[in-house]
Amino acid sequence: MRVLSGIQPSGKLHLGNYFGMMKPALELQEKGEAYYFIADYHALTTITDAQAMRQGTLDVALDFLACGLDARRTVFFKQSDVPEVTELAWLLSVITPMGLLERCHAYKDKVTKGIAASHGLFAYPVLMAADILAYQSNVVPVGRDQKQHVEVARDIAIKFNNQVGEDVFTIPAPLIRDDVAVVPGLDGQKMSKSYNNHIEIFGDPKETRARVMRIVTDSTPLEAPKNPETCNVFALYRLFASAEELQDMGGRYRAGGFGYGAAKKALWEKIQAFFAPFGEKRRELEANPDRVQSVLRDGAARARAEAQRTLKRARRAMGLE
Ligand code: ADP
Ligand code: TRP
Repeated sequence: MRVLSGIQPSGKLHLGNYFGMMKPALELQEKGEAYYFIADYHALTTITDAQAMRQGTLDVALDFLACGLDARRTVFFKQSDVPEVTELAWLLSVITPMGLLERCHAYKDKVTKGIAASHGLFAYPVLMAADILAYQSNVVPVGRDQKQHVEVARDIAIKFNNQVGEDVFTIPAPLIRDDVAVVPGLDGQKMSKSYNNHIEIFGDPKETRARVMRIVTDSTPLEAPKNPETCNVFALYRLFASAEELQDMGGRYRAGGFGYGAAKKALWEKIQAFFAPFGEKRRELEANPDRVQSVLRDGAARARAEAQRTLKRARRAMGLE
């Protein structure tokens, strides 16, 4: 089973990204042949500063490698190191009905948010289809917001295969992480950079502490019993704690005499302890940028060989050779 997914290099990772996307992606490495890439071509639709692009790309690579991406097993690369996907995107583009793209919510949402309505932004799903089809992917793990794009890739693959009368592309399927709960932010809404209610996984410890202390709780007095199930601090603690630890803290909430300050302190300690070893690995990698570049170069060579094979078949099927 070939698993493929891409992540845009758009900033420092937070707890929502880690538990919602990165951890499940890393677990999938064991179950199939994983291809994970940094979607820098896609990010060009929103990132206009070259230095921000370079830094963002390095940051994602460091984050993934530090948190356990196994580069011997998984093909890990930068999207733009495989320029074949842009040629494939053109071949797909000529068979993609306008209506299919006009129905995509992500385009409309982004334009509403004020992102420039460029041709690239509109054609974004076609490039994404090229990513998915170039590597003959079977499953594409994504968040709910990307499900429609994977379905577009699926429709394009079916139409292409039908038109040329040959199974050039594997038909992909989205793998939606329904079992992964939405991680709440400081204010109880979905944690997101755009709401500035996030906690970075490799943030400065002081800043992390300050943010944990800002988590919104109700005004139940210290002595009174509290309901852990409606508390944001407890919801985040749940991500880190063992069953016994959860039971223990739940008991303290219900018994009363246990304040939110103490719960926050316990949460902060958990966050520190959980990410400390990854942080150490990250600093080690950061000091050896050549090692990171060499992982990405090696990944690109492996990805490129696969993309070239697919592109050749597509070109032949369309009469270009
Ligand atoms: P942000 O909302 O901070 O901009 P992104 O939209 O870039 O985050 O999300 C990147 C990935 O992380 C996506 O796969 C998304 O599903 C996942 N993710 C983001 N926030 C959360 C959250 N609060 N809970 C669970 N998963 C999340
Ligand atoms: N559009 C995806 C996102 O914003 C990133 C992405 C690009 C992707 N190409 C992909 C995801 C191919 C899965 C498969 O999250």
